[in-house]
Amino acid sequence: MTSTEDALAYSTSDASLARSKARSAQIEVAIDEDPSRFRILTGDRPTGHLHLGHYFGTLRNRVLLQDRGVETWVLVADYQVITDRDGVGPIRERVLGLIADYLAAGIDPQRSTIFNHSAIPALNQLMLPFLSVVTESELHRNPTVKSELEATDGRAMTGLMLTYPVHQAADILFCKANLVPVGQDQLPHIEQARVIAQRFDKRYGRVVPERPVFPRPEALLSEVPLLLGTDGQKMSKSRGNTIELRMSADETAKILKKAKTDGDRVITYDPQARPEVSNLLMLASLASGQAPEAIAQSIGDKGAGTLKSVVTDALNDMLAPMRARRADLIANEDYLLDVLCAGNEKANEQADQTLNEVRQAMQMIY
Ligand code: TRP
Repeated sequence: MTSTEDALAYSTSDASLARSKARSAQIEVAIDEDPSRFRILTGDRPTGHLHLGHYFGTLRNRVLLQDRGVETWVLVADYQVITDRDGVGPIRERVLGLIADYLAAGIDPQRSTIFNHSAIPALNQLMLPFLSVVTESELHRNPTVKSELEATDGRAMTGLMLTYPVHQAADILFCKANLVPVGQDQLPHIEQARVIAQRFDKRYGRVVPERPVFPRPEALLSEVPLLLGTDGQKMSKSRGNTIELRMSADETAKILKKAKTDGDRVITYDPQARPEVSNLLMLASLASGQAPEAIAQSIGDKGAGTLKSVVTDALNDMLAPMRARRADLIANEDYLLDVLCAGNEKANEQADQTLNEVRQAMQMIY
């Protein structure tokens, strides 16, 4: 940061969250008016299998945005796997599984671009100029990185952990995405990406005077309630309290049978007083499109057993076609690899073009 630039103060107040939500509502209207004004970039770390939290939290929304006509880029963030762990894990299986989840959920490779970090050299090279416009103190203050580091139970901060928000800015900016559908936890990263775009413009200049090399991306917050695991705790693979998209109908039923509820036979939707019961109602609601209160009313005093079977049926009905598609896809590895290869080709073309503009702006073409 130079003396004429302001330090990035992450906006974590309730007021700034309310502003982000209001802005997202305006963007939703603008998408309906003209989806061609927007380009979306989203992504996932291939660290495990996608579960219902991912599906209702982001994946379903991405498919809807794609279907509303917004150009969508989906990143398999393989370099982000090693921010907070010692190895890559069974990465190949996870990457292929993630692509199968995307396609089964409705991401259409004809319209959307699926690609992965480690295949796009020019994206990764953007890290260098981008690192030059951020300060170490900003990186250390990033609230998401701070809480993620705390969650690792005393791990040392690695250089990649500290700087991954800059890498994530490269994910967004290399393809000139102006919209990033995210959850609240990712808002600091979007702010960081905006600041990088702005500072790059100020310091290194433009290729054409009318427009900066990079757009200033915005977050698109979706209205999704925080889902709990089936034990009422935070949803997490290691707790075994999640329903993964790839699971069978029987496995789903088994997990829900063990779900935590409470002693009151009359089922009511009351997230404050009855978080576990309300969470199950919310799952049934998201799967069926019915209001959680209406589902509660139809169960009435029939108790938790009936609630569980209602949730199981709603989820299995919704997931059945997706699971069938996923099983076909997983059996056809060559097709999954073809989809990724085609996406990477397109992403590389875009990344090379952007890096060339960066070199021009930085006067590094000799
Ligand atoms: N950090 C994101 C997550 O954990 C994944 C991700 C990587 C991402 N690069 C991105 C999300 C760029 C949005 C934009 O979910």
